[in-house]
Amino acid sequence: MKGNLTLDAHATVGKVDPRLFGSFIEHVGRAVYHGIYQPDHPSADADGFRQDVIDLVKHLQVPIIRYPGGNFVSGFNWEDSVGPKDQRPRRLDLAWRSVETNQFGLHEFEAWAKKVNADTMMAVNLGTRGIDAARNLIEYTNFPRGTYYSDLRRQNGADQPFNIKTWCLGNEMDGPWQIGHKDATDYGKLANETSKALKWVDSSIETVACGSSALDMPTFGQWENTVLNIAYDNVDYLSLHRYYGNRDDDTPNYLAQNLDFDDFISGVVAMCDAIKARRHNKKQINLSMDEWNVWYHSNQQDDETAPWQEHPHLLEDIYNFEDAILVGSLLITLLKHADRVKIACLAQLVNVIAPIMTDDNGKAWAQSIFYPFMQASTMGRGTVLTPITSAETYSTKEFHTVSYLDSIGVLNDAGNQVTVFAVNKSLDTPMQLHVDAGTFDFKQVTGATQFAGYAPKQTAQDAAMHIAPNTKYTLDAPGLTIELPPLSWNTVQIAV
Ligand code: AHR
Repeated sequence: MKGNLTLDAHATVGKVDPRLFGSFIEHVGRAVYHGIYQPDHPSADADGFRQDVIDLVKHLQVPIIRYPGGNFVSGFNWEDSVGPKDQRPRRLDLAWRSVETNQFGLHEFEAWAKKVNADTMMAVNLGTRGIDAARNLIEYTNFPRGTYYSDLRRQNGADQPFNIKTWCLGNEMDGPWQIGHKDATDYGKLANETSKALKWVDSSIETVACGSSALDMPTFGQWENTVLNIAYDNVDYLSLHRYYGNRDDDTPNYLAQNLDFDDFISGVVAMCDAIKARRHNKKQINLSMDEWNVWYHSNQQDDETAPWQEHPHLLEDIYNFEDAILVGSLLITLLKHADRVKIACLAQLVNVIAPIMTDDNGKAWAQSIFYPFMQASTMGRGTVLTPITSAETYSTKEFHTVSYLDSIGVLNDAGNQVTVFAVNKSLDTPMQLHVDAGTFDFKQVTGATQFAGYAPKQTAQDAAMHIAPNTKYTLDAPGLTIELPPLSWNTVQIAV
């Protein structure tokens, strides 16, 4: 099978905001306790953070991490999580029907995030709480000194402000499962007023308003319209959340789901721009895909988990190889929209629908989805080149004309290297991908890798998966031809 990607140095989508490779830590399951924090684990450092997890997170070079939820944040009192640990209350977490000990809180997260070189994307509780708790929180985190909350932070051991720059105005507030769920008008007003108050404390921050929690919400569209009509002038981003699964065990259909992701993003961009046009507004609202991933393997097990445990095993999807291929296609889709999607958080980071897992008393290990995410995050920074692709197509029960090829190129900031990412969705046929150099001068291939050769349902649980070099390429006059194995995620780096 043949595929083609044409590059043109003058046709660009836009610059990649590093926050496109963000992730998410929520107080749910074993993400925090027995995930990033486990003082009695052999690898724990002086702060009780698992060093084996820190090492794996560092491989992903995650620039920003959303915290502390998710559904959890809509019932969270941030004050419970600061101050002496022996005085922090144990609470019922109604979102996940678990017990929250608050032994890991705001200061611990900031210390941990620093160790993995990540910024915080802080979510405020707009479920059970509102403007007052949010403005107190930002006074605590961002105000230097000399006021009640900034001095409380200093008293609790952080002399310097945390200076958190990106703030989520609640979480999935359109969902009836959310504590304090609201209709669009009520949420729009609350998000607008909260954003104003947060920015009055620190005018350098950016805020994210909740969009629909999923494309298939009955209020999708109407919600976005109402919220933005109220809050347009005071917020910077609108959020999107999207999870996928192969529930019918139909792999070709499953691998086509990045088309749905693409439509979702384009649709929300159109909604933002329709409001912009109607208001004759120069300001553009960009998108924060602040939860995305595959999530379905653990659903049944979670239904059977007993409530009111501390750090129960929840949302522990064990990913297989086909999941990693879809994640690769979703990453390419995010890059395609880098002009408007400025923030994206792989949900989540450790143990909970995560690329990194821990055994309670044993090792930390990388799941299949770890590999495409790591390569996109470490190699996909720079300027996205407009992808012109062609390949054979197929149809499934949900999608028509699905290309076997997903591919895109990113020019690095130095302007001397193009990285091409490519997925071959065929289950049985290799693809000869021709990368047309267009206006580039391809000097040499500096690296080529393939993630391939695993059965669709193979997991990385028992034995590590790995990325292998790809030597099946030739550099010729108009470009490069490389063989993409069946069912594969691939990268090629070319000096230009
Ligand atoms: O990421 C898991 C959950 O999915 C989050 O808490 C919630 O926002 C979404 O529904």
